[in-house]
Amino acid sequence: MVKRWWDVTDDHLWLRAGWDTLTPAPPNRNKLFLSRRANQFSTDTPVLLSDDVRLRRERSFGIVQYRTLVYFLTAEATTILERLVYPKTLVRLSTEIQHDGIAITPGDLGAFLQELFAVGVLVPATESQQKSNATIYSMRVSVDPNMVYQSPFGLELEITNKCYRNCIYCAYESGPNPKIPCQVELSTEQWFTVFDEIERNGVIAVELTGGDPFARNDIWEILTYADKKRIIMYINSDLSILKTTDLERLQAIQHLAAIQTSLDGATPEVADASRGRGAWQITVKQLGLLSSLGIPIGVGTTVHKGNFNTVREIAELVSQFDGQYYVGPMYPVGRGSRLWHLVLSPDEWDCAVRQFVEAVRIGLVMPADALWHKLIDVVPASNPVRDQVYITNKADRTLRIDPTGAVYVSAKLRHWCPRFHTVGHVTTTSLQQIWEGSEQLQELRSLASPSNPFRGIDIREIPGALVRTEVIPTLSRL
Ligand SMILES: C[S@@+](CC[C@H](N)C(=O)[O-])C[C@H]1O[C@@H](n2cnc3c(N)ncnc32)[C@H](O)[C@@H]1O
Ligand code: SF4
Repeated sequence: MVKRWWDVTDDHLWLRAGWDTLTPAPPNRNKLFLSRRANQFSTDTPVLLSDDVRLRRERSFGIVQYRTLVYFLTAEATTILERLVYPKTLVRLSTEIQHDGIAITPGDLGAFLQELFAVGVLVPATESQQKSNATIYSMRVSVDPNMVYQSPFGLELEITNKCYRNCIYCAYESGPNPKIPCQVELSTEQWFTVFDEIERNGVIAVELTGGDPFARNDIWEILTYADKKRIIMYINSDLSILKTTDLERLQAIQHLAAIQTSLDGATPEVADASRGRGAWQITVKQLGLLSSLGIPIGVGTTVHKGNFNTVREIAELVSQFDGQYYVGPMYPVGRGSRLWHLVLSPDEWDCAVRQFVEAVRIGLVMPADALWHKLIDVVPASNPVRDQVYITNKADRTLRIDPTGAVYVSAKLRHWCPRFHTVGHVTTTSLQQIWEGSEQLQELRSLASPSNPFRGIDIREIPGALVRTEVIPTLSRL
């Protein structure tokens, strides 16, 4: 991607952002619409931020979000957009930013405005509109020097741990009778309150996961509520209970970035060995339907000894759908803690990663995470994610909320380091207090492994962690 003056170029930040949010190029199908909009841009017409925009300033950069689009901006570009809460022409804006000490030529400024106009972040001012209703989040003064984001960039919300599968490795012990029973889940109203907080804190994106979010009777109320809050949503589901009428409702959600699902094999035999009989067939059928309706999809493979050498074949299958693909190694926690014999060795994971990278390189699949864009250049020489089974995130970008409202960092950390089991509870403490005030989070943020491109933490290096690390030989069959 060509770098422009308004893009944040810091590698460090790129790798933290993830969730594909750093690929601001909109899907191909919008190209025509975009070029039409771009042509309407005139330097004489005053423009201002669309009412649907959320603009968030951090210490040294900014984030602008509109629908499912996110740009990471330099501090100067952030200041410029803050000025566009009020309508301005290019000439007027140029004069104002000179007073701010920002040296950008009118040509460069025009190109910036034109791009944001083309995608809808900026709109032409009408005579009656004096001010945009965009939400502007100012920077807070943080106490933790390791905190890049002043509040979470994203949250993974376990809406319910109920689902209709019983996958052998499920880290969350989900299923028809989940370990966290439905009776103790947050109510509809409580999730609404969580979304109010999410909006107040400027959280850009959430992943609704579980379990299967569609297993909750009130899921459409929750999705509608979150959509009104203008928060980008990814929904993780095994797709088995999604009905045709639901697909139409999904199309109506403005902030839906993708429906994400799991496909653990290119054939029913391989996939169903992990995810239960019929999983492959229903997933492939539903992916076809979603794809034909233009609903954005992401497909992930949980890789273990039983499927690591089939990643290339799975990528070929995924390439039939208009979606993105990602792989992750199975970690032995939750139900998976009984599956040590299936945990990948670093060499086996390397083999899976190389198949994935090759599939991306030849254009078979689009990677679903910004990290992989980086890795395709690096992996031919060395594989910096060989130890990924043991890497957890550093709690400086995202957090998880379980169905009871307990906030935590990752299933791996919960399982292997009991003192990090829970870092707060959304029903008793504000998200901001947890993010800034939790001593556990502060400790984790200070522990990053600098050599890891995820800037994560190798759990084996955390004092007191209870991790088994022996390498199990490759299986000849599952
Ligand atoms: C917990 S599921 C929730 C969404 C949905 N039920 C599904 O399976 O796609 C989210 C993802 O976590 C993955 N997952 C579950 N247990 C895991 C484990 N022990 N190691 C690695 N990934 C795991 C699943 O394969 C799935 O891709
Ligand atoms: S991995 Fe997903 S579908 Fe499988 S048991 Fe866990 S939550 Fe259910």
